[in-house]
Amino acid sequence: MPGTSAKEDGVVLGTIGCTVHFHRVELGFALASAFWGEGYMPEAMKRVCQAAFEDDRIARVQALCDEENTRSSRVMQKVGMQYEGRLRKYGHHPNRSDIPRDCVMYAIVRGD
Ligand SMILES: CC(C)(COP(=O)(O)OP(=O)(O)OC[C@H]1O[C@@H](n2cnc3c(N)ncnc32)[C@H](O)[C@@H]1OP(=O)(O)O)[C@@H](O)C(=O)NCCC(=O)NCCS
Repeated sequence: MPGTSAKEDGVVLGTIGCTVHFHRVELGFALASAFWGEGYMPEAMKRVCQAAFEDDRIARVQALCDEENTRSSRVMQKVGMQYEGRLRKYGHHPNRSDIPRDCVMYAIVRGD
């Protein structure tokens, strides 16, 4: 991640979860709000995508977020993922609603 102290002081800024399904990796991500807007998550996500494609078995890396979560959508776009569509009533996001929410799916595939 960019910056200096973040790398050197060992403070955990956020998390990226990776779930592998055969040829496919799904990423979930979150960053402490104090560090939003500094490009940390796109940089970290790019590195994770690169690492995933170093494994020849991986053909696709995907991520999704609530349809109104424009910050997360921007992260996925900046990583080079393409918008693939809307998953209706897919998400459970109690911070927004108790009702299942539409989500948007982004992905990058080998060769993009
Ligand atoms: C989504 C998240 C990871 C973004 O990480 P980040 O390192 O801040 O990403 P960036 O610095 O590249 O900012 C991404 C976009 O967020 C928006 N943004 C960032 N900081 C902002 C702020 N303080 N106010 C408003 N918008 C802001 C901008 O649109 C920015 O895109 P831009 O650079 O094209 O203008 C972070 O906002 C987060 O953890 N959010 C809460 C958890 C979450 O939504 N997780 C994802 C669920 S799938």
